[in-house]
Amino acid sequence: MGKRIIVAGGAGFIGSHLCDTLVKEGHSVACIDNLITGDKKNIDHLMGSEKFDYIEADVSSSGLVEMIRGKYQHVDEIYDMASPASPVDYVMYPIETLMVGSFGAKNLLDLALGYGARILMASTSEVYGDPLEHPQKEEYWGNVNPVGVRSCYDESKRFMEAISSAYIRKHGLKVRIARIFNTYGPRMRLNDGRVVPNFMSQALNDKDITIYGDGLQTRSFCYVSDLVDGLMRLMASDVNTPVNLGNPDEKSMLDFANNIIKLLGSKSRIVHLELPPDDPQRRRPDITKAKNRLGWEPKVTFEQGMMRTAEYFKKSR
Ligand SMILES: NC(=O)c1ccc[n+]([C@@H]2O[C@H](COP(=O)([O-])OP(=O)(O)OC[C@H]3O[C@@H](n4cnc5c(N)ncnc54)[C@H](O)[C@@H]3O)[C@@H](O)[C@H]2O)c1
Repeated sequence: MGKRIIVAGGAGFIGSHLCDTLVKEGHSVACIDNLITGDKKNIDHLMGSEKFDYIEADVSSSGLVEMIRGKYQHVDEIYDMASPASPVDYVMYPIETLMVGSFGAKNLLDLALGYGARILMASTSEVYGDPLEHPQKEEYWGNVNPVGVRSCYDESKRFMEAISSAYIRKHGLKVRIARIFNTYGPRMRLNDGRVVPNFMSQALNDKDITIYGDGLQTRSFCYVSDLVDGLMRLMASDVNTPVNLGNPDEKSMLDFANNIIKLLGSKSRIVHLELPPDDPQRRRPDITKAKNRLGWEPKVTFEQGMMRTAEYFKKSR
């Protein structure tokens, strides 16, 4: 018998891959999404399955808990993946981003409490802000500008971690907190403003690859199937403190762009634009905790992941 699992934000990039894997493993999945940044196309192939329900709803809305309690008598697990996640999206929807990290997170925590379910919250490496420690360990408290353009996202996730910790302390709720670092793969939107789709679409069209600043700032990219594996291991674990999930293979933006040009045989040239405010200079997870406590580390190589992603973007162009 599979479990009944809710995936909030299940029509998005990571959430839809998570729904796929959970359904494949025999679980009954209820995807709740308001499609603010997601797309029904990501879950179209699951729609006919008796193991899959789609509920179009805003998890931040006041009637959410009663509506879901009226639908399902029993739920085993909840994954909270709901939030705009790319800088383009959360700058366009700053209030909605703050609402979903606060009201939405509280609604889902209350649902979990009512059902006696486990819940996993998708937090982010952005809670470290522009980090003054490198690589980032979970013990680092971060360096966040509370009023900058990115604060709607960073602070909403920091609030989400704070309220999750309060539910653990006050109610003994089984909450898992994943600090997700940059993830990429099929079903990202070509125009979502994140580095991988940006560089890929520019390289596939032989257009100039735009790098902000000198390109020496670093990021590390994790392929989506590795991330989903990490999320599921964390959910099954007994770790109730934040865990970094990401690929520690750190690359400068300049190296990254050159790698993509080479891998895709593109004719693109690299051009530099002004660096946006509060852009973090360095980003690499320390994944010692995930390795020791979850037995997890990424398996998909940069070349494998990038080729699979390029295939998807070629088809969806
Ligand atoms: N992709 C990454 O690199 C990354 C890195 C760190 C953290 N995360 C976190 O992982 C989660 C998923 O990210 P993603 O990249 O798949 O983003 P995404 O935008 O593709 O998916 C988010 C989904 O949540 C839905 N959503 C947003 N607000 C909602 C609301 N109020 N009610 C119901 N549904 C709502 C959107 O419609 C979308 O389908 C997010 O919480 C994000 O903050 C992602």
